Amino acid sequence: MRRSACIAARLVLVAGLVLPFGVGQAQSLPGPDNRPAPGNEVPAVTPREAGYRPRVNYQLQCSGCHHVDGEGSRKNDVPRMKDFVGHFLEVEGGREFLVRVPGVSLSSFTDAQLADLMNWMLTSDIAGDSTPAHFKPYSAQEVAGLRAEPLDQIHTTRDVLLQRMRDRQIAIRDGLEDRP
Ligand code: HEC
Repeated sequence: MRRSACIAARLVLVAGLVLPFGVGQAQSLPGPDNRPAPGNEVPAVTPREAGYRPRVNYQLQCSGCHHVDGEGSRKNDVPRMKDFVGHFLEVEGGREFLVRVPGVSLSSFTDAQLADLMNWMLTSDIAGDSTPAHFKPYSAQEVAGLRAEPLDQIHTTRDVLLQRMRDRQIAIRDGLEDRP
C-alpha cells in the first residue's frame, strides 16, 4: 500500500472507533435526570457512619486479611488470631500492642467502635479460650490514647511479646511458627 493510502486507511479506522461515542457530546454523570435504581435510593454510607455491630465491622474491615474465623493466612504473613490472640493479654505490653497494630489503630472506626470491636473479638469464638478470665474490656478513652502512639517496630515488638509468652509456657500457635 502506498504511504498516503495507508495514512488514509488509518484515519478511517480511528474515525470509526471514535465517532460512535459522539465527539463533542460530553455529558456529566449522573445526569440531572438520572434517578437511583429501585432499592438504591438511600445514599451509601461508610461502615463508620453506619453504626453496625462489631461482628459486622470485623467482617467488613478485618476479615479480608484475618479471615472471618480469625484463622489468618500464612501465605500473606497474617497471624492466626483464632484461639490465640487473647494470650497477648497475659504478657506485659500485650494489651497495648493489640490496639496499636496498624490494622486496628489506623482503621476508620471511632475510638468507641474500635473498643467495642476489640472487646467483641476477645470474647468471641475468634479468641476462644485464649482470653484470660481477668480481661477488662477496653474503653474508648484507652483506645484513643493507644492509637495516638503509632507502633513503628511492629515485628520487633511482637517478637518480644511472643518470647514473654514462651517464658510463661504459653504455646505459640499464631500460624507463623516457621517464620525465619
Ligand atoms: C491489610 C491486612 C490487615 C487488615 C485489613 C487488618 N489486619 Fe490485623 N494484622 C495484620 C497483620 C499482617 C498483622 C501482624 C502484625 C503486623 O504486621 O501488623 C496483624 C495483627 C493484628 C493483631 C495483633 C495479633 C498478632 O498476632 O499480631 C490484631 C489484634 C489485629 N491484627 C486485629 C485486626 C482488626 C480488629 C482489624 C480490623 C479493624 C485488622 N486487624 C485489620 C493484617 C491486617
